[in-house]
Amino acid sequence: MPAIAAENEVTVSNLLAAFEGESNAHAKYTAFAGKADADGLHGAASLFRAAARAEQIHATNHARVIKQLGGEAKCEIHAVEVKSTLENLKAALEGEQYEVDTMYPGFLAEATERNITAAVRTFHGALEAEKTHARLYGEAIALLVGGKKDSWIGAARDFYVCPVCGYTSETEEEHERCPVCNCPWEKFEIVR
Ligand SMILES: [Fe+2]
Ligand SMILES: [Fe+2]
Repeated sequence: MPAIAAENEVTVSNLLAAFEGESNAHAKYTAFAGKADADGLHGAASLFRAAARAEQIHATNHARVIKQLGGEAKCEIHAVEVKSTLENLKAALEGEQYEVDTMYPGFLAEATERNITAAVRTFHGALEAEKTHARLYGEAIALLVGGKKDSWIGAARDFYVCPVCGYTSETEEEHERCPVCNCPWEKFEIVR
């Protein structure tokens, strides 16, 4: 295994933290999807599944860059605490908000300063996707709090996930290409 160059050490350690976060988010959202289905909130379950898929894509992208930089992508997957779907949505939103406001901007700035292009790309893709997750979780929370179970949170629905960067959309005809990474729309994965 190639050693990690001294100038890449901080970036690799940030990539490992992001890899751990994404891997655990994937596990968490998968468990939350099961609970949402059990609660009859099948649209919220679809959102959890779409976000889980996106986090898996982020984890894979981060792992690839970790290896490129001579590191080893491994992390611990923690036991998931499943509560009510409202609490799960709030926990998910809190996690996304932390990534959007704090974690990814910091990691992105560091990698940009060192001009580590592959790390910049993977952090940027994740940051933009997490923004869409935060928005959708916020919307689901507002609907659930407002008692609107007959809205999209109630019935299973399609979400569209970019297979390259994890960008997540609820609208089929929103774009011809991924607005974040330019991947053609027809390659998007439909997650329900
Ligand atoms: Fe996310
Ligand atoms: Fe993309």
